[in-house]
Amino acid sequence: MSFFLSLLFFSFLSLSPQCYGEERKVRIIYMGKHKSGSSALSLPSHLAMLKKVLPSGVSSAETLVYSYGRSKSFKGFAARLTDEEAAKFSEMDDVVSVLPNTKLKLHTTRSWDFLGLTQNRTVGLPAERDVVVGLLDTGIWPESVSFSDFGISSAPSKWKGKCETGGTNFTCNNKIIGARYYNSENEFDPSDVKSPRDTEGHGTHTSSTAAGRPVWDASYFGLAKGVARGAVPEARIAMYKVCWLTGCWSADILAAFDDAIADGVDIISVSLGSDFPLQYFEDPIAIGSFHAMEKGILTSNSAGNSGPFPITVSNYAPWSLTVAASSTDRKFVTKVALGNGNTYIGLSINNFNMGQSVFPLIYGGQAVNVSAGSNELISSYCIDGFMNTEKVEGRLVLCNSVLGEETILNAKGLGIIMSSDDFPDVAFTFMYPALIVSTQDAKEILDYIMSTSNPIAVIEVSDEWLDALAPTVVSFSSRGPNPITPDILKPDLTAPGVDILAAWSPAASPTGFPEDERRVDFNIISGTSMSCPHVSGAAAYVKSVHPTWSPAAIKSALMTTAMPMDPRKNEDAEFAYGSGQINPVQAINPGLVFDASEKDYITFLCKQGYNTTTLRLVTGDNSTICTGIGVGKVWDLNYPSFSLSVPDGGYAYGSFYRTVTNVGLPNSTYQAIVFSPENLKISVQPSILTFSQVGEKKSFVVKVNGGKLFQQPIISACITWFDGKHSVRTPLIVYTTILPFDMSDVDSDALTSLRPNLPLARKKLRIGGN
Ligand SMILES: *[C@@H]1O[C@H](CO)[C@@H](O)[C@H](O)[C@H]1NC(C)=O
Ligand SMILES: *[C@@H]1O[C@H](CO)[C@@H](O)[C@H](O)[C@H]1NC(C)=O
Ligand SMILES: *[C@@H]1O[C@H](CO)[C@@H](O)[C@H](O)[C@H]1NC(C)=O
Ligand SMILES: *[C@@H]1O[C@H](CO)[C@@H](O)[C@H](O)[C@H]1NC(C)=O
Ligand SMILES: *[C@@H]1O[C@H](CO)[C@@H](O)[C@H](O)[C@H]1NC(C)=O
Ligand SMILES: *[C@@H]1O[C@H](CO)[C@@H](O)[C@H](O)[C@H]1NC(C)=O
Repeated sequence: MSFFLSLLFFSFLSLSPQCYGEERKVRIIYMGKHKSGSSALSLPSHLAMLKKVLPSGVSSAETLVYSYGRSKSFKGFAARLTDEEAAKFSEMDDVVSVLPNTKLKLHTTRSWDFLGLTQNRTVGLPAERDVVVGLLDTGIWPESVSFSDFGISSAPSKWKGKCETGGTNFTCNNKIIGARYYNSENEFDPSDVKSPRDTEGHGTHTSSTAAGRPVWDASYFGLAKGVARGAVPEARIAMYKVCWLTGCWSADILAAFDDAIADGVDIISVSLGSDFPLQYFEDPIAIGSFHAMEKGILTSNSAGNSGPFPITVSNYAPWSLTVAASSTDRKFVTKVALGNGNTYIGLSINNFNMGQSVFPLIYGGQAVNVSAGSNELISSYCIDGFMNTEKVEGRLVLCNSVLGEETILNAKGLGIIMSSDDFPDVAFTFMYPALIVSTQDAKEILDYIMSTSNPIAVIEVSDEWLDALAPTVVSFSSRGPNPITPDILKPDLTAPGVDILAAWSPAASPTGFPEDERRVDFNIISGTSMSCPHVSGAAAYVKSVHPTWSPAAIKSALMTTAMPMDPRKNEDAEFAYGSGQINPVQAINPGLVFDASEKDYITFLCKQGYNTTTLRLVTGDNSTICTGIGVGKVWDLNYPSFSLSVPDGGYAYGSFYRTVTNVGLPNSTYQAIVFSPENLKISVQPSILTFSQVGEKKSFVVKVNGGKLFQQPIISACITWFDGKHSVRTPLIVYTTILPFDMSDVDSDALTSLRPNLPLARKKLRIGGN
């Protein structure tokens, strides 16, 4: 109900004033790679390009927002342009794409112990100090204990970044060695601080998850008590604040990539994304991460929080890592005890102790505010403005939705029992005693309320339970298949993203509500935004041990050593978890890697349908030639997984060519072990690979024959190369293609309405992280 209202409200706001001439909007003009050796300053050439297009009287300098190219990796600029001017740029020969400035959304520590990266590990520590993790996020709270630089020497000599303080009290140290901020639309919320300081909490949380220092006795009001720490506690952090309380703009994201590459970061962590699929060179994160890859930097991305629906995965470029979210073995449960002796268990992170007493309990539908035009149905959903506050005050309230947290607070209620089946596997924090129960349990609680003249109840402090099923991919984690390249499996892997304790900004409340006046140094939140920095940290860990490895090699090491997940507990199988849950300790010793260079990705892009003209711009190299554009399949990209999509009723038939590089023992012999269901024939030729030195490469071909395929959601198989010490595991999936509906026909409001309960998920999961 209130969801519907808010949609209407939203469409009013998006009406733009058209009556006073054409509006100038920020657009990104993306011009591909910086040509090597070109020393021409980009700013004058961008101003000259603008001058050619702008009418006389409009200043080029004033319309220019960013001149990209500081990193000498990609070219382009952002400027305020009319539709007509933007169209002129898109017709220019040296322009790859003209993109709107779109708003993207933000999509422990027990989790590291769960992953086996225990604190007493001996490998990696000294080298970690040379690794810089760059995060594109909401900023950082530099005073947090997680970012203490106690005992850490000054920044590595390669570092070219800086600390933009914005004239505020923001400070860097030997832990946070760089911080910058970007806001192309000059759009601020009153609570935003114009500096890299985090007033949202998200960026502080992700940074400390990836590279925070150990903090003993961290907890959320006593819950989740333990050591909070990042994967690489000695590594450096560089924060690029692209997200504000109002959102994250794509022109800023590209500017941050430009700086991060130029500054010398080693790993880029991006816990945000677009809600609908974009082509690779129309997606600022895909563009930025492509040019980062060319400079040897791996980008780790969140897969998105739009699951469990199919084809919802975002950030699916093959040159970056796409991370799903899964559970750890810790689960927060909260009990509500009724006056009739029955107790019900729901999910929430409830630190409020109501003591031994019991409190009056009512049903939202009993607190109808007639003068506000409400009725029993509306009030049962506990919608703000529709409640009779006199009836709510001093009581616990049962609500037919998950929307009532602020409502009941405003009406001076004592606690809330929310009803929903949409959040079976994630617990949220609230401003007062609260929990979410199943709709079936809610029905029984309602029966109790109606059966007695004096219903009473109490909500207890949460318990931490051992979740024996873990890890499972959480329902909100976005699922494959890949919307743009169905034959590249996405997501790549999964990491903990459910109820993660990490550092928080004391400028923000733990729940994100302005009414919440509490402040915490550590908070528990969920999202693929939280799983992504786990993988960024693990990638930094691998990088610290193998500083010369390419982005593809690090990615391969993380994927082929991932712990296999159980398809019986994850019905979407590889579309939920990719290669499985990261295993950072194994990842430093993968045995073999599937390496790939820029050239391999260009061959991939040809097969994806890009032509020579476009790819010459993207590579900045006139010798790039695309033969057979869009023909053949993308199967031969040296990817550490195999995906074969088949039209319904088509033949499941294909050959994949791969090359592995020996990074294990010099003399080693690997044998291919194939696991596959009976209806799928998989051959690997040769099935034995013998190496006599490190760095040696060997090729093989995988042939798949599954006959005619009808309505097959996913067939899971896998190929493991085994030398007695290393298991190099690669999933292989076959499925009948799901036709993605044409997104261009759907406006984004309608799109969000396809996803039930998004308002809560948005607020609580801080989706951007997608
Ligand atoms: C490291 O810690 C883990 C768990 O705390 C323990 O099982 C293991 O024996 C320890 N290893 C060493 C080398 O101390
Ligand atoms: C710095 O300023 C912010 C507000 O901009 C304030 O919340 C914070 O406490 C200040 N920190 C220090 C160390 O003065
Ligand atoms: C009924 O709703 C109106 C409008 O929201 C509000 O002003 C009034 O205080 C409410 N009455 C009660 C008893 O809560
Ligand atoms: C290459 O592709 C671009 C973008 O689709 C298109 O505008 C251009 O005309 C194509 N060039 C050739 C030579 O086909
Ligand atoms: C690439 O080719 C184009 C057109 O033939 C030419 O204008 C340009 O100068 C060449 N660039 C380089 C770097 O050789
Ligand atoms: C590898 O095997 C070759 C031939 O069997 C042998 O000459 C060489 O010493 C071995 N190398 C190592 C490092 O064991």
